Amino acid sequence: MRPSSLLPGPARTDPAMPGVADSVLDLIGRTPVVRLGVLARAVAPQVLVKLEGRNPGGSAKDRPALSMIRAAEAAGDLAPGATIVESTSGNTGVGLALVGRLTGHPVVLVHGPNMSAEKRATAALYGAELVEADWDAGPDDPDNPRAVADRIAAERGAWRSHQYDNHANPSAHYRSTGPEIWEQTGGRVTHLVAGIGTGGTISGTGRFLKEASGGAVRVIGANPEGSTYGGGAPGEIRVEGVGTRWPRSHWPASFDAGVPDEVRSASDDVVFETVRRLAAEEALLLGPSSGLAVAVALEVAAGLTADDVVVVVSSDGGGNYLSEALGGPR
Ligand SMILES: Cc1ncc(COP(=O)(O)O)c(C=O)c1O
Repeated sequence: MRPSSLLPGPARTDPAMPGVADSVLDLIGRTPVVRLGVLARAVAPQVLVKLEGRNPGGSAKDRPALSMIRAAEAAGDLAPGATIVESTSGNTGVGLALVGRLTGHPVVLVHGPNMSAEKRATAALYGAELVEADWDAGPDDPDNPRAVADRIAAERGAWRSHQYDNHANPSAHYRSTGPEIWEQTGGRVTHLVAGIGTGGTISGTGRFLKEASGGAVRVIGANPEGSTYGGGAPGEIRVEGVGTRWPRSHWPASFDAGVPDEVRSASDDVVFETVRRLAAEEALLLGPSSGLAVAVALEVAAGLTADDVVVVVSSDGGGNYLSEALGGPR
């Protein structure tokens, strides 16, 4: 089955080999879901993890990357062969680099020093051009990543994918991640937990699941230390890919703050301890933002019953963080 909602492309070239994908683009989505064992032993509900790291670019971001590019092409905003510019902490860059390579668009990524060495190397191997900007610069500072990306796009006549403000970002999750979770759980999902970066994942997936369940599914955002999504003051954010230091007035348009019923925070200590336990006890090597989401999910699950089914979106695997955030014995 091809992800037809995302890919209006040509049919398989050889119907006699239905297990063979036309290209890597055909492998985006339809990620597996696994039930937690040891980590969820003390809680009554099933806690299920959707493994978005199994996408070909290694993260959930392959979905919005493909969706944003296809939507822009269809709208005539992205001409054949035109360049794409994005400011990204990493995974969207890898997703755009991968999809850009296969759809014929050069990709320029404006990133911060927090982008892991593995993600930089991966995006570069897919042919993306990398430009470093000041990730700590505020919304009005011309050196902030979005401003730098805007400048480069203007200079080169390139298209800005604007993942923070692009409706095709949450809609990718509305059209694929949400329906997959609904189908994979046989409609039994009662709670969704996801981190919030651009907000695309939680807004699109959460909106779909709420609609599919007649409003029954409860959506919980997972917030890292230092992020204002949880209502606290801005500080250093150590969990890559999630959180914002900007005030509510500057939260991304791709985040629909009306979708989460609540946002819960977890400390960095708990996040990294959860990542290590996931690897050691479940043989699940996941990224730090997944540790955050699982930690919040276990806290939520502690107050629920055996009739509940909690689904956690794991945005990526841990392999991209081995040299830095997850590196070395502790
Ligand atoms: C590792 C990681 N986790 C979580 C997220 C959050 O996803 P979203 O941007 O859809 O909110 C991202 C986004 O870049 C990410 O890179």
